[in-house]
Amino acid sequence: MTMDDCNLFEIIDTTRSMRRLKPDPVPDALIERIVSAGTRAPNGQNTQPWAFLVVRDPAARRFLQERYLAVMERAMGDHRPGPDDRSRGARTMRAAWHLAEHLHEAPVLLLVCGERDWPFAVAPEDRRGLAPPSYGSTYPAVQNILLACRALGLGATLTTLHQMFEAELCERFGIPDTHGVTALIPIGYPLGRFGPVRRRPLHEVTHLDRWGNSWPG
Ligand SMILES: Cc1cc2nc3c(=O)[nH]c(=O)nc-3n(C[C@H](O)[C@H](O)[C@H](O)COP(=O)(O)O)c2cc1C
Repeated sequence: MTMDDCNLFEIIDTTRSMRRLKPDPVPDALIERIVSAGTRAPNGQNTQPWAFLVVRDPAARRFLQERYLAVMERAMGDHRPGPDDRSRGARTMRAAWHLAEHLHEAPVLLLVCGERDWPFAVAPEDRRGLAPPSYGSTYPAVQNILLACRALGLGATLTTLHQMFEAELCERFGIPDTHGVTALIPIGYPLGRFGPVRRRPLHEVTHLDRWGNSWPG
């Protein structure tokens, strides 16, 4: 599928996590196109409370990979499916481990940053420490970025394990206290092929007029 005949719904239907990436460089022009797509996204009151850190430096990528893998080992150390397990879950886990072990080989690690801001629902007297970074106003941008990557033939994955070493991460990259990192997106040319995403059918997740009233389709 070329960019010309790739329509929006084909892109949406085939934008899945691509965790096996080639180390080949991604041109600046494509990075700019991708980040620009991110900045077209909806966001609260058009405050555009995002910032994007494009990590290319090999030592910086290794820094991220070592910590990402350490989190993965702590959290998922017991979940390493054997090579004979052909189940879908096992395939996803193998891909997740591959990503953790090869994260530094992705030519670009994109850190999506969001301004810290307390949600309305947290009462002023309950606000302690740093406010969380804005997920609501950065995740539409993240999705635009994933779609833009797909449209350009690049693989990407929305990852969040960096939350487990966020303070160290912010210090390493000079990210000020005003911002936090909401997503770490490895980007590169995919080793495998794009394929359809797999999701539960609509009638299982869609209600008509009242919760529990399944959409009839
Ligand atoms: C909030 C969120 C956090 C995620 N964190 C990770 C992550 O840390 N590592 C990873 O490999 N995938 C992560 N993913 C990707 C999901 O595992 C993936 O989207 C899901 O399994 C569906 O698979 P697909 O994207 O291939 O269709 C995350 C997705 C979301 C929405």
